[in-house]
Amino acid sequence: MTTTCVVHSYRGGTGKSTTTSNLSVLLAALGKRVAAIDMDITSPGLHVIYNVSSQMMRNTLNDYIYNRCEFSDIVMDLTNHLKLPRGAVYFLGSSMKPEEIVKVIREGYSEKFFRHISEKLSREYNIDYVIFDTHPGLNEDTLLAIMSSDVSLLLMRMDKQDVTGTYITSQILRKFGKLSYVTLNMVPPNLAESSDLPSEVSKIIEAPVIGVLPFYEEVLSHRSRGVFCLHHPQHPYSSQLLRVAKRVIELTTQSQNSMPV
Ligand SMILES: Nc1ncnc2c1ncn2[C@@H]1O[C@H](COP(=O)(O)OP(=O)(O)OP(=O)(O)O)[C@@H](O)[C@H]1O
Ligand SMILES: [Mg+2]
Repeated sequence: MTTTCVVHSYRGGTGKSTTTSNLSVLLAALGKRVAAIDMDITSPGLHVIYNVSSQMMRNTLNDYIYNRCEFSDIVMDLTNHLKLPRGAVYFLGSSMKPEEIVKVIREGYSEKFFRHISEKLSREYNIDYVIFDTHPGLNEDTLLAIMSSDVSLLLMRMDKQDVTGTYITSQILRKFGKLSYVTLNMVPPNLAESSDLPSEVSKIIEAPVIGVLPFYEEVLSHRSRGVFCLHHPQHPYSSQLLRVAKRVIELTTQSQNSMPV
């Protein structure tokens, strides 16, 4: 069974693309088949972290939506490229061409499109987890991605604007009957030490906090040059995010098991 997950945040720069790429690799290390999709159509960047050049990415989601290519043309198998010993990571990129970005901003995607992509990945690639990396804030495309997904992973920093925005986002998701789980990212190390932090923040934002990722100088200075946990598997960032990956598996398996048949 395929789980569709949106990685989102109310504000920008919270670590969505970094989390998506690292999470995909960690889920693969746990034996899962993962597809990461760059749905940040206005400012795509996930391919940079995966070290996928524009030449390698010959076709994009933009080509597929306008019937310029087959579905298989936009699905890149990165398993060997990333030298993954277990599982699999596939990548679907968005166009970096200015005219394509303008076209898709003007015309947008449909909810049907998101579902179609997830269904094809499930059926034709036997994917366990589809992860959509999104643009920050609640715009039309993000809402559609959220609507078509099973679960949202909301990232937030310990910043009052992020806290307020994450509360609002999770309230909106609840209205639509969607589950949201929150991960705190770039947490100042002194705050991250408190074992009460997840429960305290959960109470304020009225959504479960499933992970706490401190701010690490090494992650920042890695500067998106590759998937951090592949370069630094023993780093605490990698082990903390592995715990989030295991929690995501646990929670999504539980909710699948409790679904009426
Ligand atoms: N835990 C962390 N500690 C330190 N730096 C981090 C951490 N997580 C992410 N970063 C850094 O923060 C920067 C922004 O991350 P990223 O691009 O993933 O954010 P984003 O939410 O995808 O941004 P956007 O909203 O623009 O799409 C990157 O330089 C990344 O390396
Ligand atoms: Mg991003």
